Amino acid sequence: MRTLGLSLGLALLCLLRIQAAKLGAAELGAAELDERKIAGTWYITAMASDSKTYLEKKDQLKMAMASIEVLGDGDLNVSFAIPAPETCMKFSSIYKPTGRPDEYYTDRGNKTVQLVDTDDRSYMIVLATRKKNGETLHMLRLYSRAQWVTPTIESQFKTLAKLNGFTDQMIWILPRQEKCRLGEL
Ligand SMILES: *[C@@H]1O[C@H](CO)[C@@H](O)[C@H](O)[C@H]1NC(C)=O
Ligand SMILES: *[C@@H]1O[C@H](CO)[C@@H](O)[C@H](O)[C@H]1NC(C)=O
Repeated sequence: MRTLGLSLGLALLCLLRIQAAKLGAAELGAAELDERKIAGTWYITAMASDSKTYLEKKDQLKMAMASIEVLGDGDLNVSFAIPAPETCMKFSSIYKPTGRPDEYYTDRGNKTVQLVDTDDRSYMIVLATRKKNGETLHMLRLYSRAQWVTPTIESQFKTLAKLNGFTDQMIWILPRQEKCRLGEL
């Protein structure tokens, strides 16, 4: 039941995005995502996940960092610094456009990511979908330019997560941390 709700919610969300993209294209004559707006340094300050593995360790998770570089061919080179108990995981992955609006794919973990909401300035909300052992897992992440997120953006994230079938137990705000960071750019 919950899975069905989630799938329907996601389908609806994708539809809304596509319609918004079409409207935007018609009104503004710009169909492509403005990649400059997603480039640079971000803090991952909230997330929602339906993965059991994540839900089990959610109390240990803390704010992460990501830095997005748009490469010449339109690919994204995304570097992460993700704190884990006793360590700081740093790695980068190449994300390639799938051809669908605002959607990218990376071989690393066979993951598809889609931009679902942004104000083109201070935040973006990204949905990641991946298949693991025959299961489809979903993760919604709030990327913020600042370490502090305004209550408005935080509640926008929660609303969008719930609209997509994530329950309160699946949504969490990541506490700030200073130890695991990307180098200054
Ligand atoms: C991606 O970024 C990382 C970190 O800056 C860098 O080491 C790597 O060479 C970059 N890869 C490409 C293909 O640009
Ligand atoms: C990713 O997909 C490829 C081809 O579909 C498959 O061979 C590979 O095992 C998958 N990798 C992961 C981590 O699931």
